[in-house]
Order: sequence, then C-alpha cells, then structure tokens
Amino acid sequence: MSEITSYLAGAIRAIPDYPKPGIIFRDITTLLGNPEAFRVAVDELVRPYADLAVDQIAGIEARGFILGGALAHQLSSGFVPIRKKGKLPHQTVRMAYSLEYGTDEMEMHVDAVKPGDKVILCDDLIATGGTAEGAVKLLRQLGAEVVSACFVIDLPELGGRKKLESLGVEVRTLVAFEGH
Ligand code: PRP
Ligand code: MG
Repeated sequence: MSEITSYLAGAIRAIPDYPKPGIIFRDITTLLGNPEAFRVAVDELVRPYADLAVDQIAGIEARGFILGGALAHQLSSGFVPIRKKGKLPHQTVRMAYSLEYGTDEMEMHVDAVKPGDKVILCDDLIATGGTAEGAVKLLRQLGAEVVSACFVIDLPELGGRKKLESLGVEVRTLVAFEGH
C-alpha cells in the first residue's frame, strides 16, 4: 500500500456490524470532515484527469455529489446529478439498477448531457457495481461517452470494478478494502 493509500484508508472509519452483523461499513464522513484528508482524496481523484478535456462530471446521489462537485470544480467541468427517482423537476430518463436486495431506479434530466459529451462518473464507493452500471447505461442512453469512473473506495470482493470494466469503462479507485 502506498503512503497516500494507507493515509486515506486510515481516514475512513470502519463500523463493524453495520447495517447488519458481519458487514463492516466504510464511513467516509470522517474523511470528508478532515480538511487535509478531503483535499488529498480530491487531489488524487483529479490527478489522472488533469490533462483530459472533460465536459461533465456525473455524480451519483447522495455521496457521489460531494466528491463529484469538488472534481468538477477542480477540472473546470460541469456537474450532472444522477438522482434517485422522483427528485428531478424537468423531463428525465430513468434506469433500473440492482441493489443487494431488489432493484431501484435512477434518473437524469434528458438535457443534462449532449451526445458526444465526455463524462467522468464519480461516486464514493463501488461494491457490487449495480449502481455505477445503471449510471453508465443512463449516460450512454443519452449519447455521452463515459471516459472513466472514479471512486474513493473499492470493495473488490463484490466485483463492481470488474463489472464496469466488462462494460468497457476505465475504473480508478483510491483505496481497496478486502472483506466487507
Ligand atoms: C452506496 C454507495 C454507492 C453504492 C455502491 O450508496 O454510496 O453509491 O451504495 O453500491 P453498489 O456498487 O453495490 O451498487 P447508497 O445506495 O447506500 O446510497 P447513498 O449514497 O445515498 O447513501
Ligand atoms: Mg451512494
């Protein structure tokens, strides 16, 4: 583990047996509330994209909004919210996505991206990848090019990274935790 990786891993709180026995919840609120760690995380997320021309950062509600907004500012791109259904006021496109138990739906405004827009998807964490997969499909449905997807935390045992890569999406993550 690099020094930065172990620093960031140490800034994320582990809560055993939440939300149910046997699960370790990775709580990024401690990272977000630590001015230095928050800056380091955003700088590390931005670094590989510094020379890329990106039109939009798409952040996934809710925790992806926090990081995605910071990324958009740093990269001087726009920000597009991908929201849980029923929250956006204008005409939307909707996509079902899989959760640990069952499915839900996410939405974007129809005019949030234009065909050909280069978009980076951003969320705090990738686990099974069901949420990110839905977001990629939604962005592609509107004609956007998903040039990369980035997350602070990867839970590799749950297979999300592989799922996204099998869709042809580059995946960047800062910290991987084994076990979940
Ligand atoms: C969590 C996390 C990711 C998603 C990852 O969000 O913030 O968005 O789960 O899981 P997956 O890779 O298995 O799809 P959650 O749905 O708990 O909602 P929140 O961000 O609004 O808290
Ligand atoms: Mg989330």
